[in-house]
Amino acid sequence: MTDRELYEEAVKAAKYSYSKYSHFSVGAALLSTDGRVFTGCNIENASYSLTVCAERTALFKAVSEGVTEFKAIAIAGSSNEDFSRPCPPCGACLQVLSEFCGEHLVVILSNGWFRLSDFLPMRFGGAHLR
Ligand code: THU
Repeated sequence: MTDRELYEEAVKAAKYSYSKYSHFSVGAALLSTDGRVFTGCNIENASYSLTVCAERTALFKAVSEGVTEFKAIAIAGSSNEDFSRPCPPCGACLQVLSEFCGEHLVVILSNGWFRLSDFLPMRFGGAHLR
């Protein structure tokens, strides 16, 4: 699966976005180390803070099916049909992704690829609790 193909999966996932409050559709496509793709969209709520981002939807789908190792995630966001502008992951999603994904996780946006560590260079993790 190429970066472009994974990004297109994210764009497709954004079609199911439930974003009646922000009108901003986000899709994510998470590639596991065994080659499976788990997609997710943002799911908003009238109680705004209960909104779940696309990245966490995709990750929780995968983890709930027993898949916990990942290579890459593509993220596509737009307030219209144009997904050419980059939509970087929010801080909450970075923290949740970092629970399961190493700092080398590839993050694919419309403008290229990055590493999780580019967005979250010093991450809080389970080791800090010991
Ligand atoms: N959103 C995501 O799904 N992922 C992000 O990383 C950024 C923000 C969603 C949440 C909300 O439904 C909408 O985008 C506007 O913030």
